[in-house]
Amino acid sequence: MSTTPRRITVTLNNARVTADAGQSVGAILMGEGIKAWRTTRNEGKARGLFCGIGACYDCLVTIDGQPNQRACLVEACDSMNIEGDFDA
Ligand code: FES
Repeated sequence: MSTTPRRITVTLNNARVTADAGQSVGAILMGEGIKAWRTTRNEGKARGLFCGIGACYDCLVTIDGQPNQRACLVEACDSMNIEGDFDA
């Protein structure tokens, strides 16, 4: 039995990156050094992972065209397209 995780490929704003299967979208973003990917509506403050357990909604991101997905809860899949303001 192999303990090496299967690798998947996702796109971050059209940039292809590889990750381990089973990682959350938020984990992939943090692994790529992206700490914020959206800004607040009223004050424009940068947001990314905060609670990491689905409670705060700070980590909202667009996944496969579906906006407002919690990056900390969504398990990444091969060929997933993840969009956000990765320069936030
Ligand atoms: S980091 Fe809080 S809901 Fe995702």
